[in-house]
Amino acid sequence: MKNKVAALFQQSFGAEPAIITRAPGRIEFIGNHTDYNGGTVLGAAVDGALWVAVSPRTDGRRRWRSGLSDTVVETGGELVKLKGDSSWINYPQGVIDAMGAHGLDLPGGFDYAVESDLPVGAGLSSSAAIELSSALAFLELTQQKVDRETLVKIGRKAENDFVGVPCGILDQGVSGFGQKDHLVFIDCRGPDFSTVPMPGGAHFWIFNTHTKHALVDGLYEARHKECMAAAADLGVKLLADATLELFRQEVHKLSPTVAKRARHIIEEIDRVGKTIAALADQDLAAVGQHLTASHRSSQHAFENSTPELDSLVDQLTTMAGVYGARLTGGGFGGAVMALTDSRFGEAEADQVAEVYRTRWGADPQVLHMRTGDGAEVIRSHSR
Ligand code: GLA
Repeated sequence: MKNKVAALFQQSFGAEPAIITRAPGRIEFIGNHTDYNGGTVLGAAVDGALWVAVSPRTDGRRRWRSGLSDTVVETGGELVKLKGDSSWINYPQGVIDAMGAHGLDLPGGFDYAVESDLPVGAGLSSSAAIELSSALAFLELTQQKVDRETLVKIGRKAENDFVGVPCGILDQGVSGFGQKDHLVFIDCRGPDFSTVPMPGGAHFWIFNTHTKHALVDGLYEARHKECMAAAADLGVKLLADATLELFRQEVHKLSPTVAKRARHIIEEIDRVGKTIAALADQDLAAVGQHLTASHRSSQHAFENSTPELDSLVDQLTTMAGVYGARLTGGGFGGAVMALTDSRFGEAEADQVAEVYRTRWGADPQVLHMRTGDGAEVIRSHSR
């Protein structure tokens, strides 16, 4: 991939890039919508990443090229929100905006190319991957260093403020702190980041439905609001402050819908804790039960699943070798993750795809993912 992004850069701008960076996508392992509620979450960085190549320019022009498009887009020194095919540039532009908000020096002109070996639109957070790889590239360009936590916060701020999605810290945190054969644990209130070893012999499978609810951004925001309303009704700042006991005592103050959302978050935070304990015991069967329980809670209480995602979980959880399965990420479409042992292979994945095709008339995208390392500079300016 290093050569591929360098080649795209060369072809677009006629020179070798000075700097190359990469940042991985992520799987949300468990902890659904807990992040912006101040809760805990576990994620895995995957071995697919977004790769960014940049070189400085002295004339202030900014030229942008993606491997997914044939055109070079040019912007000036001003950050302008772009629409349509060029809207991907809002992510790196948002990073520049967020660097400013953090009091950092901003890059002037540059040439920029991005390539991906992470399936885009598969629910693996290519947005966090482009934010972190861009942030590392712009920091190299301006010869500044920040700690990992700041890097992650810059990525999230880009998405919250410039792109306009009120996401939590999960995606950027996992892309920044990922480690091969580990899960990233985030206590989102700090936020505090650490890693947890993943027991050997576990496999990650992604079944991407390619379905996306038309209102997905609005629905994410609506859930965010419902959670904040629930916290206010329960008399706590964030739902992570509410115990199950408090919830049971005060639930009468909540509307039935808001009560369901709150129960999902409070129980989900509890499941994250239980999952960590099961991982420490190397008890993958118990881990799998928590994963599937998380999905059922999404399906019935948080109502961010879809019939397509539910059918995948229904099918997967009947199969030998599957520890558990759940929707991964924001929901309202997207992908299901299954945790399996080695009895579940290509033939079994094909079988799942076949059942899905018969039911829904479309093929899911099937990916056998490995864990990978977090964001890093591959070629440094100063070298
Ligand atoms: C999306 C957001 C994350 C998180 C998940 C749901 O992936 O970007 O911050 O809220 O949804 O857990």
